Amino acid sequence: FQPKVLAGKRVLVTAGPTFEAIDPVRGITNLSSGKMGYAVARAAREAGAEVLLISGPTALEAPFGVRRIDVQSAQQMHDAVLSQIDGQHVFVAVAAVADWRVLNASEQKMKKQADGSVPELKFAQNPDILATVAARTNLRGYPYCVGFAAESENLVEFGSSKREKKGIPLLVGNIGQNTFGQDDNTIILFDEDGHTVLPRASKLELARQLISEISKRVSKLSLL
Ligand code: C5P
Repeated sequence: FQPKVLAGKRVLVTAGPTFEAIDPVRGITNLSSGKMGYAVARAAREAGAEVLLISGPTALEAPFGVRRIDVQSAQQMHDAVLSQIDGQHVFVAVAAVADWRVLNASEQKMKKQADGSVPELKFAQNPDILATVAARTNLRGYPYCVGFAAESENLVEFGSSKREKKGIPLLVGNIGQNTFGQDDNTIILFDEDGHTVLPRASKLELARQLISEISKRVSKLSLL
């Protein structure tokens, strides 16, 4: 049984990878399984929130009681988030969003060339969904924005600078190699006071601890 610390709150979560098409049957994606984001959505629902999950392609089922919108590309995830963000109290960006999309994607399946010539892909930068939402935070601090950072090294240093760069009150750091596809994780929470390590545990257990930390901070906002 989980205490209903987010009763009456609306929480929007992004999860999973994105898929950036190269042609109708090929694309570029990443190793995110969606497990951490789905665990956050489940933990938020257990805490009494109304939860909307905007998910890239994953093999997972939506947690009980959670509404899900499926998207493929970063641009679609961005558009879905912005169309749903009004009225949300908390935004947790767990998705591993592609930094780039293919500008010259082919409308038809690309054919292998007899002369051995290979396709040349051109890239454009995708919008930063989290930074866009964070820039719209209102004077009371809603939506309360939480980001994730998957680094491969120097997590403590990168984590606190990324939190500031994104303009968000709370950032969750993890090491990419320790989390992608796995059932457990180690995370570090970065906020304006510094950082706290949440030791290795199942993603659901960590998600519950994270939701508890978020709810403490959100309840302070409501007092202002
Ligand atoms: O800058 P970086 O991609 O490492 O930041 C990761 C955080 O930003 C995650 O919370 C991720 O969901 C979010 N993000 C996003 N839109 C992007 C890139 C990252 O919302 N285009």
